[in-house]
Amino acid sequence: MLKTVQPINRDAKPNGHSSVPEGLYENRFAITVDGVLQQASSDELLIDVINRSGIQLAHVCYHPQLGPIQTCDTCMVEINGELVRACATRVSPGLSVTTNSTAASEAQREAFDRILSNHLLYCTVCDNSNGNCTVHNTTKLLGVEHQNIPFQTKPYAVDNTNPFYRYDPNQCILCGRCVEACQNLEVNETLSIDWESPHPRVLWDGGSTIGASSCVSCGHCVTVCPCNALMETSMLGHAGFLTGLPKPALDGMIELVKGLEPETGFGTIMRVSEAEEAMRESRIRRTKTVCTYCGVGCSFDVWSKDRHILKIEPFEGPVNGVSTCIKGKFAWDHINSEDRLTKPLIREGGVFREASWEEALSLVAHRLNEIKAANGPDSIGLISSSKCTNEESFLMQKLARAVVGTNNIDNCSRYCQSPATTGLFRTVGYGGDSGSFTDIAAAELVLIVGSNTAESHPVLATRIKRAQKLHGQKLIVSDLRENEMARRADVYLHPEPSTDLIWLSAITRYLIDNGFAKTEFINAHVNGFAEYRKSLEPFTLEFASQRCRVAIDTLKQVARMIADAKTMCICWAMGVTQHSMGSDTSTAISNLLLVTGNYMRPGTGAYPLRGHNNVQGASDNGSMPDNLPGYQPVADATIRARFEDYWKVTLPPLRGLDNHQMVDAIHAGKLKAMYVIGEEMSIVDSNANYVDDAFSKLEFMVIQEIFFGDVCQYADVVLPATPSLEKDGTFTSSERRIQRLYQVFEPLEGCRPDWQIIRDVANHMGADWKYQHPSEVMAEIAALTPMFAGVTYERLEGYQSLQWPVASDGSDQPLLYTKDFPFADGKARLFPTTWQEPPDQPDAEFDLHVNNGRLLEHFHEGNLTYRTAGIASKTPDTFVEVSPELAKERKLTTGSWVHLTSRYGKIRVRAVVTDRVHGKELYVPMNSVENPINRLTSSYTDPVTHTPAFKEVAVKMTVLGEVGESPLPRTNSRWGHPTPQRGVEVERKWKRPDYRLPGPKLVQIQPLRAR
Ligand code: SF4
Ligand code: SF4
Ligand code: SF4
Ligand code: FES
Repeated sequence: MLKTVQPINRDAKPNGHSSVPEGLYENRFAITVDGVLQQASSDELLIDVINRSGIQLAHVCYHPQLGPIQTCDTCMVEINGELVRACATRVSPGLSVTTNSTAASEAQREAFDRILSNHLLYCTVCDNSNGNCTVHNTTKLLGVEHQNIPFQTKPYAVDNTNPFYRYDPNQCILCGRCVEACQNLEVNETLSIDWESPHPRVLWDGGSTIGASSCVSCGHCVTVCPCNALMETSMLGHAGFLTGLPKPALDGMIELVKGLEPETGFGTIMRVSEAEEAMRESRIRRTKTVCTYCGVGCSFDVWSKDRHILKIEPFEGPVNGVSTCIKGKFAWDHINSEDRLTKPLIREGGVFREASWEEALSLVAHRLNEIKAANGPDSIGLISSSKCTNEESFLMQKLARAVVGTNNIDNCSRYCQSPATTGLFRTVGYGGDSGSFTDIAAAELVLIVGSNTAESHPVLATRIKRAQKLHGQKLIVSDLRENEMARRADVYLHPEPSTDLIWLSAITRYLIDNGFAKTEFINAHVNGFAEYRKSLEPFTLEFASQRCRVAIDTLKQVARMIADAKTMCICWAMGVTQHSMGSDTSTAISNLLLVTGNYMRPGTGAYPLRGHNNVQGASDNGSMPDNLPGYQPVADATIRARFEDYWKVTLPPLRGLDNHQMVDAIHAGKLKAMYVIGEEMSIVDSNANYVDDAFSKLEFMVIQEIFFGDVCQYADVVLPATPSLEKDGTFTSSERRIQRLYQVFEPLEGCRPDWQIIRDVANHMGADWKYQHPSEVMAEIAALTPMFAGVTYERLEGYQSLQWPVASDGSDQPLLYTKDFPFADGKARLFPTTWQEPPDQPDAEFDLHVNNGRLLEHFHEGNLTYRTAGIASKTPDTFVEVSPELAKERKLTTGSWVHLTSRYGKIRVRAVVTDRVHGKELYVPMNSVENPINRLTSSYTDPVTHTPAFKEVAVKMTVLGEVGESPLPRTNSRWGHPTPQRGVEVERKWKRPDYRLPGPKLVQIQPLRAR
């Protein structure tokens, strides 16, 4: 079923992003707008009240998610005989406003004339003329027929140096929305406007080309641009019927349109363009989807024409509004990649041959049934994908349990998030974020531990950066590497590898011992305080300082900041969880939050940042060896009985193998067959060589993928699945938010959505599943899982979302703990932990520590993101970051090839010398299939969850004496030099000698050069 989302009115207030804070309506009063009473609230902006009333007032620079910018002056209204900007006026009781007085109308028109002097109106042949161009719509609204101030070209060329978008200075109306978005929403601080110049324009890094600047291609600026000055290159020449003409012909058309204007006026041009625009509507589709990359959960409209993606337009996503990162905005070329698998493949005589679906499905069913009959159901293991939908993960675990008859089912949260979930289960009861990202933005203090948030969860990072820059939020970052958040932090801690548990516990002890524990909260809501305090005995500040190598004063400063903050959120990620003590360190984080009373209130809580788009949902929906959907223990006979009744089968009662144990079981000869969907397990599991050895021993392996990835080489059958844009379903983001994605494109011929393939495999194995649409699967999930009782597709229609748990009446819980914790007595539990030395440590031979993680531009190993040429050009390969001091000692430079050798394997990479890393600590990004970091990692795991200690790797480095190009090309944003400023800095525009407020006594604005 295809869904077309209605055209978006950019001027309307988006859902979930009202500029009216919740609760404000309590303080309501009346104001008068054009003689009609309107309800308003204190602190509300006048323009929001006017927009809500339905009165059409021009406003070009104002955007509800950016706030007042005050550059365009088109929103002038009259109050008590004075002209003011509606976007910059706070309402007060009794205000009487006129939007259409002679003076106001004159001012609006004059202001818009100034805008048009910076812009050529050629809508009919413009790719931005799709019903939502603010400049076009304002021309119409104000009934502008002629350009009173002549258009002046600017002495600048179009900048086409970024692969994803271009800037045309001649079309730029200098509204500053892009600058505001870049400086204060994305907070990459690349853009500015040179207001003092004779010909102001938007600048990248103060005057660089876009391609050589610090621009991270997040697309915020392009999304909010109210005209065609900034446009996605994927739109250019594709949106309009005539816009694809060769440039000379297009220029001729523009001349023609302009030539008509003096005689016909803009009205005629507008009417022609709107007729053409209506034709566009018939072929441009706008479909809502949810990002396929990280766990932030951004949602947006995909604009498509046939199978071409015109652009990604974020606007009303409950998490992201207008925000995206480079991946969500631009990394979609995998959809139409020629490398897509489009036929099932069967291995025969050591090579793959194409096969029909029927043959492939029959073979899969036959071999799985055969192996099951010969060796029992537990000789088969299934891996679900964190990239697939909730419905698909549910079906995968149902296939394992109800059809194969095994609990050997897992997903990649084992590789990252299970320790965080364990830490939360132990202490507060639910394995999910305890609030929403809005709580993180609202917190007085954010503590980030082991997370490269700006690169791994970029849109969440924007909210923290904005809160810090504009609202005084304090930020503490603990990380081995001086990543962007660390550099922005008020306090940056660089503890020794694997010692986070120590300093976290020491600070907790210090807070307790110095009277900063929130005793009232602990007495009311927390058990186990005395025993927990006893467990902290070894964790003195002295021990922490000595083992973590962090100064005592710094630890005390962190403790003081925590004690002083009324609200604190802690975010953590793989820098904590992928350690041999990942569960205990996660527990220590939650303990700290409990001791300081930072649960149960807005702006507080624990936020383990989920990596994949649906890693939360894969576990929520039972792709785990010990839990049925909704974390219902498989060992519980009553719970099992409920599923058995529904599914009409007998379920295996004992916990199955997790993915790490499955690899061991293959080596032990116990696991004979695997069915893996959407998981490059051969390179994302640790100790990749050991994993590869295991896979080559399997009797039968099924891989369900969209590309022939590394793991496919071990397969006996490869089934071609579809990416997220070719299916319906739901994803659950890091903040427990369930959102629908709609099918944008029909599956590429030959491919099938994963839910259909799993259904078909089940039926070929003898089941009788009748699902025709994922909504039927969701109905079954809701029926069997109290946590999702009220989840329905209707309640998730469009941009609506639900944050679990969802009661049967549909009410959800953005803040997870409000009255109590989900334990028998309603109290949370402090959980004592101890610390041990990590097993894989540097020694005389393996003398360096290697850390690893994601890179902004790529997702994980890059299987999807490398298909986007612009991304591959900016980040073509992985590398190793080497500190300047180590580079000097080892005589290497950026571009030097090195071998990194661990106790388990070897990779060959180029060096990047950078002060992001220190001393003998290295960093290798994960984005490589040829030289994946996991050739170096070990099989040590966190003992509780079996999550590999990916971050505890000792290596030796051999400099190969061969120096190549820098692995980070000059077009990579890391070379840029941002230009932070407060925002668009409109005051500088107002200081220009040629500026005055528009309004009666209109004087023609003279271009500066004419003076
Ligand atoms: S970082 Fe680049 S793409 Fe993002 S808002 Fe700034 S200039 Fe635009
Ligand atoms: S490029 Fe920036 S300043 Fe120019 S019109 Fe677009 S948003 Fe406004
Ligand atoms: S990758 Fe993450 S932050 Fe980027 S657009 Fe997608 S969901 Fe948002
Ligand atoms: S909308 Fe108010 S100044 Fe631009």
